[in-house]
Amino acid sequence: MDFERQIAVVTGGASGIGAACARLLARRGATVVLADRNLAAAARVADELGGHAVEIDVGDEGSVRDALSRVEDGIGPVGVLVNSAGVLQRTLPPDRLDMKEWDFVARVDLRGTYLCCAVLGSRMAERGAGAIVNVASVSGMRSGPLHSYGPAKAGVISLGECLAAEWGPRGVRVNTVSPGFTLTPALERGFATRTLQQPALTAASALGRLVRADEVAQAVAFLASPLASGITGVNLPVDCGWLVATPWPSYGGLRDPLTPTDSAA
Ligand code: NAI
Repeated sequence: MDFERQIAVVTGGASGIGAACARLLARRGATVVLADRNLAAAARVADELGGHAVEIDVGDEGSVRDALSRVEDGIGPVGVLVNSAGVLQRTLPPDRLDMKEWDFVARVDLRGTYLCCAVLGSRMAERGAGAIVNVASVSGMRSGPLHSYGPAKAGVISLGECLAAEWGPRGVRVNTVSPGFTLTPALERGFATRTLQQPALTAASALGRLVRADEVAQAVAFLASPLASGITGVNLPVDCGWLVATPWPSYGGLRDPLTPTDSAA
């Protein structure tokens, strides 16, 4: 129970990776607060976990300040912040990606992460303790046809480094987890709209499968916990080996586990 007496805010906690993080933190003793723009869905998860739900639009400064002040005034000082609220993007070329969509994605994924960090992290720094874990993506570490989402997630990775150095002297750790393709409602929407093809994704990872949300949550909880007391400013991919496998098509692809290798030239 390494999160006992800790209040943990999870943005995007109503669904997918955020909900998995909230479930794990609650199991390990935290009082969880699910902060999401979908209040009804957040309330359902909060009820299941004996936690709290709060409506927030992470891209809106007034909403973030108001929601997070209500959490600290009404529930107590927050020791753990997980920023998982995010939106995915369609794989469009620049001539078809209008600036409304570009701004929408960057507003939630980068600006939203920064705003929640700025508001709660500053309060943590005043108190001299806290742990923040931001959910970025392998899309922020490699190129892809995601001309807003990729740069926004690269920005989240950079932000983690900047804030780790900013607040380290004041006892606040800031780390990043970069999931690979993870089976969540967001990814399922990507399959349904044919933005993404499941067989291509599984074939591209070393472990030959998608990531599970609970596997991402394990990394998030580790980095938020006292087990990681000496770790700040890192970016930990949880990607079933997608990053290491993606260059292999240049050499003919990953090996077939059923084909003997001793006859290879
Ligand atoms: P999801 O769609 O299942 O959950 C996202 C949650 O964020 C939803 O509950 C949604 O209501 C909330 N949200 C969206 N915009 C918001 C806003 N403006 N304010 C407050 N809440 C908002 O998505 P999933 O897959 O769980 O994604 C979670 C995070 O993980 C995102 O940051 C995403 O970019 C990242 N990620 C997901 C991957 C995947 O394959 N599913 C891969 C890499 C990163």
